[in-house]
Amino acid sequence: MILLIVILHFIIIIECSYCPIKHIHSSTPTTGFIESPGHPSAYSAPLDCVFNITTAASNVIQLSFVTFDLASKNQLSDQCLDSYLLVVVVDRHGRQHVGDRLCGNAVPSSINTMQSWMQVQFVTTAANNKHRGFRIQYRILSEAAIQEPLSILGEPMFSGCGGHSTPGQLSGEILSPGYPSTYPKNSTCNWLIRVEARQRIYIRIVHLHLAPTIAECERASLTIIDGYKHENFGNERKESTSETSEAKFCGSQLYYSEEGMKSYLSSANRIVVRLVTQEGPASSMIGEERIGFKVCRGV
Ligand SMILES: *[C@@H]1O[C@H](CO)[C@@H](O)[C@H](O)[C@H]1NC(C)=O
Ligand SMILES: *[C@@H]1O[C@H](CO)[C@@H](O)[C@H](O)[C@H]1NC(C)=O
Repeated sequence: MILLIVILHFIIIIECSYCPIKHIHSSTPTTGFIESPGHPSAYSAPLDCVFNITTAASNVIQLSFVTFDLASKNQLSDQCLDSYLLVVVVDRHGRQHVGDRLCGNAVPSSINTMQSWMQVQFVTTAANNKHRGFRIQYRILSEAAIQEPLSILGEPMFSGCGGHSTPGQLSGEILSPGYPSTYPKNSTCNWLIRVEARQRIYIRIVHLHLAPTIAECERASLTIIDGYKHENFGNERKESTSETSEAKFCGSQLYYSEEGMKSYLSSANRIVVRLVTQEGPASSMIGEERIGFKVCRGV
């Protein structure tokens, strides 16, 4: 009798923790949902569920959270212990980028992975009868549907602040708004350059004159962001799942005399070129030489 109870107990535990890996694959753009087991009823414990989402290399995956209700952080350790969601983004080199553990009931912001492979892991350790788990929409987008981060033009009389290339476009140039006479203040302009999934981008700064000295980064700066993923990834620790390196340029090309400092080869197939300004050009620059920047990409 006791043996039977032990066996029954064992079977029940196994049944509760049974959560086979779910493979979701679509080679073409689509949308769908993943949910915690039993959603919208409370989830059980222990669970260790993995959703493995993949698409063709030319597409990317985005997640948006529809509902999210997990046990809150452990008060003593301030960590997600009883249950949590983990988003793992696998980049094109096969490297895994593991995000922070997500728990509690604040709906996390969308995750735009910029990659074609990701895993969502859902782990529960403590039994619970009130938290309903999650429902997440995944979207598979084609490369061409990826947009650059939002640009903000501080002075409306300017134009040409931000944009994106089409995937097949191999060369071209980017000019700061107002080039070569001036540039707008209080602006953020983002340009997205992209090529096919397995290619890389070569870009070169042909001309740069933003401020009289290299110390004036606040006035205006040019940043080249490699391995672009969307800005609105999760919280502060967004870098943890991205693969981003940046090169920032301030002042003028006089400070970047070596040719190698002025050119850049991306590690992946996207680059964002970003101009951030607070003020316009210094008065000492007016009438001088060409003001702003010119960047060329391609061969
Ligand atoms: C997820 O899917 C990919 C592609 O099919 C596969 O290579 C990988 O092994 C899967 N991951 C797991 C944990 O099964
Ligand atoms: C800069 O732009 C923001 C909104 O984009 C505005 O609120 C702010 O007043 C502007 N600052 C200056 C100095 O123009």
